[in-house]
Amino acid sequence: MTEHHADHRADAEANRLNEIPRIPLNSGYDIPQLGYGVFKVDPAETERLVTEALDVGYRHIDTAAIYGNEEGVGRAIAASGIPRDELFVTTKLWNDRQSGDQPRPALEESLHKLGLAHVDLYLVHWPSPANGHYLNAWTQLVTLNEAGLTRSIGVSNHLVEQLERIEAETGTLPAVNQIELHPAHQQREVVEWSTSRGVRIEAWGPLGQGKYDLFGASAVHDAATAHERSPAQVVLRWHLQKGNIVFPKTVSRERLVENLRVFDFELSDAEVDAISALDPGDGSGRVGAHPNDVN
Ligand SMILES: NC(=O)c1ccc[n+]([C@@H]2O[C@H](COP(=O)([O-])OP(=O)(O)OC[C@H]3O[C@@H](n4cnc5c(N)ncnc54)[C@H](OP(=O)(O)O)[C@@H]3O)[C@@H](O)[C@H]2O)c1
Repeated sequence: MTEHHADHRADAEANRLNEIPRIPLNSGYDIPQLGYGVFKVDPAETERLVTEALDVGYRHIDTAAIYGNEEGVGRAIAASGIPRDELFVTTKLWNDRQSGDQPRPALEESLHKLGLAHVDLYLVHWPSPANGHYLNAWTQLVTLNEAGLTRSIGVSNHLVEQLERIEAETGTLPAVNQIELHPAHQQREVVEWSTSRGVRIEAWGPLGQGKYDLFGASAVHDAATAHERSPAQVVLRWHLQKGNIVFPKTVSRERLVENLRVFDFELSDAEVDAISALDPGDGSGRVGAHPNDVN
């Protein structure tokens, strides 16, 4: 074999190993298991950062109306020239648009900002139980899905009590439930309820939002040393092996690349279990708001 052929083969092998798996959803569509989340990405920086993310290989972007940066996401997508069907774009309905027939104009505004005819996934962002409209919002999303404005529909931050109501009163299950999930806060009850019904788990704050010393935990640190990876890569790998869909946020190009390089190594069962043991089990590992408190 010539040197050139050997190089070519090595590149092809590297590409295969780095390929992002796709997870099937109950809509018949599938979602890249790893994407780029843009919560707290400055609207003025969003176009540049999403362009960089697409450039280094991301194809799944997670935004929300409330993030105020859908226009930047849209401009980056338009400028990329990437065929629409190769991209997976999620946005979310904010709490103040859940009532009556508000979800439709809310989604239409998001689509306008994104410059898209449809999103791939539209989520009810929080159940907002004090407002009492999440069931209506869900029913409206079912209609928006049928109308083709979104390919899949789901919820975010929903607890078992709300999921059970949705199931009982509408008969339509969400494709995903996007919840706070990282080693110190694994929400086992809601994960078990969801996965047993084919509702996929999207983990927000997959790195704990940097709010506790996750990377210093010995289970993470030891695995990072053993695999010659960064602690962030080990935590993302733990999520992937658990079956979670993740979209870590960063404003650094270097970290965008680092967070994508998680498909060419594997944690042992013992390493996965040691990281899973980091949840104190009493809810005290939560770094964000309680789902019922965002109204
Ligand atoms: N549905 C919801 O209610 C909800 C709530 C929150 C988030 N989300 C979604 O989930 C996405 C991810 O969650 P998140 O942004 O809250 O938190 P996260 O991804 O767990 O953490 C982001 C933090 O980790 C840092 N970081 C990223 N990559 C790193 C690396 N390789 N090494 C060290 N530090 C690293 C980032 O710093 P730098 O930026 O400085 O690199 C940032 O401070 C969001 O962007 C959003 O799309 C949804």
